[in-house]
Amino acid sequence: MVKKKNSNTMWGGRFGTGPAEIMEQINASIDFDWQLYAQDIAGSKAHAEMLAIQGIISSQDGVSITKGLDTILSQIEKGTFEFSRGLEDIHMNIEARLTELIGDAAGRLHTARSRNDQVATDFKLYVRDAIDRLDGLLHGLQLALSEKAAQYAGAVMPGFTHLQSAQPVTYGHHCLAYVEMSNRDRGRFQDARKRLNESPLGAAALAGTSFPIDRDMTASALGFDRPTANSLDAVSDRDFLLETLSAASITAIHLSRLAEELVLWSTPQFGFIRLSDQFSTGSSIMPQKRNPDAAELVRAKAGRIIGALTGLMVVMKGLPLAYSKDMQEDKEPFFDAIASLELAIAAMTGMVADLEPDLKKMKQAAGASFATATDLADWIVRVLGKPFREAHHITGALVALAESKRVPLHRLSLADMQHVEPALTEDVFSVLTVASSVKSRKSYGGTAPANVRKQARKWLNRLARESKNAD
Ligand code: ARG
Repeated sequence: MVKKKNSNTMWGGRFGTGPAEIMEQINASIDFDWQLYAQDIAGSKAHAEMLAIQGIISSQDGVSITKGLDTILSQIEKGTFEFSRGLEDIHMNIEARLTELIGDAAGRLHTARSRNDQVATDFKLYVRDAIDRLDGLLHGLQLALSEKAAQYAGAVMPGFTHLQSAQPVTYGHHCLAYVEMSNRDRGRFQDARKRLNESPLGAAALAGTSFPIDRDMTASALGFDRPTANSLDAVSDRDFLLETLSAASITAIHLSRLAEELVLWSTPQFGFIRLSDQFSTGSSIMPQKRNPDAAELVRAKAGRIIGALTGLMVVMKGLPLAYSKDMQEDKEPFFDAIASLELAIAAMTGMVADLEPDLKKMKQAAGASFATATDLADWIVRVLGKPFREAHHITGALVALAESKRVPLHRLSLADMQHVEPALTEDVFSVLTVASSVKSRKSYGGTAPANVRKQARKWLNRLARESKNAD
């Protein structure tokens, strides 16, 4: 086997030759971890400044390291930085370039630090930013849904259980269900953010360091709440990624369920909505088709995101403390999952804002399939004082009668109804329309248009306050 002559300049002291080609290929992470460059530079600057203040390196070296890192940042951002696979990862690419720029002082940056605490720090900073972006996107989705909820607070549609028409609800109510889900999604991300916000920097390779570092200083310079309290834990856990990916998976599942509804509702069979041209595609062979591709892709992204979570859980489950190179495999799936989720939320927000509900179709469907049968049973309980179980039985017989006559419940004659239950009166017809059905559902959290209007307003105010606070 041909071996390379040169050993790695960063760690090659005890090596006679460099790695085999295939070793370099499996080992290198620069092809994807370059994305951590901004966080890596921020972490290194905080570390160098602390080293200088603590007198561990000279202040002159501290200044030239900081300047050099700033130059590297602008080179990477301008696209003039050349990444090298031979230098494995983002950490060593940056350090090697720093050496080219400022000479020997660069070698002092890695005092009291290891790539193990470095990568954990970088990744936490990255995840924090990702969570903040996701929060903004979910806020946007909630806003789009709440606007629709306010607009369609009184628009009746069938509510389903088992995907069978169950009871009428309003389209606004359905939209608000997803506003609630998105809010819990945001909460889960915030919880993860709170727990991850401890700085691993200074845990060094695994055991801490003998240098008089100040971990509180670097932690606060990087916006962490405090340093991590155990060096082994600091470099060896990736639960902050698992937690964030769990939150991402649950969010993706919510989006996927809504996407599935959009797919169903946009079929001619349902016909509840029409997706705008902007979010549909045509078929290359069937000219009549309008396909809900964006919704289908949002639905599919959930698979990728859950896959990332599952994959990383499996990577982590057997690892002894502390760092193992297995953990380098945390990055690609995480980056991919977050990018997929960002795209899915943005696409869903666009679809929700653009889609046109067909109110007539929805209303028709809401009235079909005896959807007000529960209202009838409730009337029997309320007015005739019968136990619910008996009312349920009577209503069942009335539904069977209507079915045999092929008419909706409100088209049965009172005389026909009285054959089933003599105590029924004309008043029963007042609860059999879909409008009266939804209007009566005034219990807290129920679908009554007045409730929906109030909830939509509450959300719109709250979301507006959040945007104001963010400015
Ligand atoms: N590229 C590595 C990773 O992402 C950085 C840490 C390497 N540490 C080590 N001891 N080899 O995990």
